[in-house]
Amino acid sequence: MTTVAQAQPNIALIKYWGKRDHSQNLPAVSSLSVTLQSLWTRMSVEFRDNDGPDTLLVNDAQAPAMLARVSHCLDLVAGPVRPRADVISHSNFPIGAGLASSASAFAALVIAAEGECGGSRNLLDLARIAGASSGSAARSLYGGFVVLTARQDEIDVQTVCESSEWPLEVVVAITEEGPKPVGSGEAMIRGEKTSPFYSSWIERQDDDLTAARDAVLARDFAKLGAIAEHNCLKMHSVMWSSRPPIVYWNSATLSSMETIRALQADGLPVFFTIDAGPQVKAVCLPEAADAVTVALRQTRGVLNTMRSSLGPGARKMEVV
Ligand code: DP6
Repeated sequence: MTTVAQAQPNIALIKYWGKRDHSQNLPAVSSLSVTLQSLWTRMSVEFRDNDGPDTLLVNDAQAPAMLARVSHCLDLVAGPVRPRADVISHSNFPIGAGLASSASAFAALVIAAEGECGGSRNLLDLARIAGASSGSAARSLYGGFVVLTARQDEIDVQTVCESSEWPLEVVVAITEEGPKPVGSGEAMIRGEKTSPFYSSWIERQDDDLTAARDAVLARDFAKLGAIAEHNCLKMHSVMWSSRPPIVYWNSATLSSMETIRALQADGLPVFFTIDAGPQVKAVCLPEAADAVTVALRQTRGVLNTMRSSLGPGARKMEVV
């Protein structure tokens, strides 16, 4: 039997950056994200009878660097004494490039593995397992606007507003397609150890989260944009002030931010956010999405744009 699941990446508007506990991969801060609709990762998991190692194909290629994390995640779902698995992953967007591909991958993986071993855990338990593999993956189990609350020894995750209740659009400006130079896990550790801004980043996070959640509940786009941009730039300030510094941006990242600033000056409802990579995500009200897409496509250095509305959480798919 093979079990297939699909998950979409999520884009954090209030960022997760920093870990409270490294061995359990517990985030040091709470976060708020939106789950996308049209970017996806599909994972198939098949437990087999014979021995040998787990196997992993990512977009038709072996992925040895990812295999250990996938095997560990399968252990968390099915227990360490489990049959070996053949895992196949396909994504319809660039992976490892700051587009939250590990979020959609591990969210889809836990759903597929749980189905494959006949488990009946609830969504929160599966989100906690996904989060142990990749912190942001816990959010992709849920749809719409998602809050992840970081507690002392566990996380809570919930949808605070369905995508249908506030149907924002996200336009992603792809400025580079290669993998990022430093993975986010390693970069977070460097920030915690060396950035002079790290402690104030952690201290102010709950205030930012409260402001953003209130803005979502009030459907206050201007307020959400202001706090999301502020929180994003603070996270990048921690990265930039790490030693050695981590700068994920390129010149097209900055040009895209300028484009969005110009659109804002013209009165368009749009704001930017940027994760651990050079891509710029423009979040906007639906009526602005065409103009935002055209403007970003015309921005120097932008290779491509991808557009998505907000969508549902990870789910099992019918195998035909
Ligand atoms: C910048 O979830 O990739 O996208 O837990 O080490 O796998 P690990 O980190 P990961 O970090 C995501 C960082 C971010 C911000 C966010 O998504 O909240």
